[in-house]
Amino acid sequence: MSSISAGLILGVESSCDETAAAVVRRGSEILSNVVASQIRIHSPYGGVVPELASREHLRNILPVVRAALAEAGTAYEELAAIAVTEGPGLAGALLVGISFAKALAFALGKPLVAVNHLEGHIHAVLLEEVKRAADDGEELRGATEPGPTLALVVSGGHTHLYHARLRTDKNGEPGVWTYRNVGRTVDDAAGEAFDKVAKLLGLGYPGGPWIDALAPYGNPEAVPFSFSQIKAKVHRRGEAGALDPAEGTYFSFSGIKTAMLRYTKVYEMGASIEARRAVLAGLADAKPADALPFCDQRTLDLIASFQRSVVDDLRRKTFRAAEKLHAERIIVSGGVAANRELRVRFTAEAGERDLPIAFPSMALSTDNAAMIAAAAWPKFLAGEFAAEGLTAEPGLRLGR
Ligand code: KG4
Ligand code: ZN
Repeated sequence: MSSISAGLILGVESSCDETAAAVVRRGSEILSNVVASQIRIHSPYGGVVPELASREHLRNILPVVRAALAEAGTAYEELAAIAVTEGPGLAGALLVGISFAKALAFALGKPLVAVNHLEGHIHAVLLEEVKRAADDGEELRGATEPGPTLALVVSGGHTHLYHARLRTDKNGEPGVWTYRNVGRTVDDAAGEAFDKVAKLLGLGYPGGPWIDALAPYGNPEAVPFSFSQIKAKVHRRGEAGALDPAEGTYFSFSGIKTAMLRYTKVYEMGASIEARRAVLAGLADAKPADALPFCDQRTLDLIASFQRSVVDDLRRKTFRAAEKLHAERIIVSGGVAANRELRVRFTAEAGERDLPIAFPSMALSTDNAAMIAAAAWPKFLAGEFAAEGLTAEPGLRLGR
């Protein structure tokens, strides 16, 4: 079998704090998916330190790629193409993956496909749908021809809504996806809010999984947070940007972060927060369960209320946008899509509205390279290859 018909794509991802490589067959069958996390490196700082991230990517990239090929039982020569994240992300971090992928593609004489990280997150869902359909014996094609889709990409760097459509090519076969950006945050991303709030409360990094794990112990209705009229704020500041003001959906998560800070001051929670921080800092590999005995009920109620407010704001606006755009289904992806309450509440509302909804498996919710290889497949088939001058695009947008 030729390397092209085998359809093996090596994906490389290094946009933030995970160095990842994966081998995916024909955009849907994951043969390997290796992720080297830098959580331990950045944890003491409570956020990603760009210089440290680049250095770690450089250290990890070769072992991670070798591990991905070994796990897949694939030799370099068998690859049909190399795919790499072009942006958005940290410039220095992206450059490590891009330089590596360019050199590899050049040395092997294989095509290079550039992938937008946000499109990668969307494909984390699509690839699993196609695989499930194939496993169920359905035609692959049927599963790759969904109607207009509203995709919420919600991560540490992004809170974006896309109206996604699958275009058919000139032969009537499924071609590449096209995207229209119909929503975004005007300040912090939702995952960033989880991370900052966890840091504020003396919990670990990244904050999302900590808040997710501790929220079930609190009362989500204890502290009523309100989300201000963001649209008015955006228009006042003339920031409507590329979005159609009539159609655009705006998120804002900096206000709730400030409200949380104010709450901890009003209720004088500073000493207990510092005590919790000190205990966790003294543990080699602190987990949310280690924090639980050091959280009083007021703290747990605050955590639960924060999570409920953020999830409900995302849910309300996403479903409203889906209705307005007559989307036939919703997909939710990105690190925050791993949140259990988000999945439960989105699934419940989708059920009430009889609207199909899909999430990636937990492993594919956060950053990985399988999603990059999957997003590259339709581009590979369409002959959309990276230009020789490909470089990091830290502020890359998806769609128009
Ligand atoms: O997609 P991702 O791995 O990287 C970016 O592209 O940003 O997302 C990481 C973000 C972090 O902010 C992290 O706190 C959040 O996803 N996250 C979660 C959960 N797991 C990860 N947020 C809420 N609940 C979770 N279970
Ligand atoms: Zn991501």
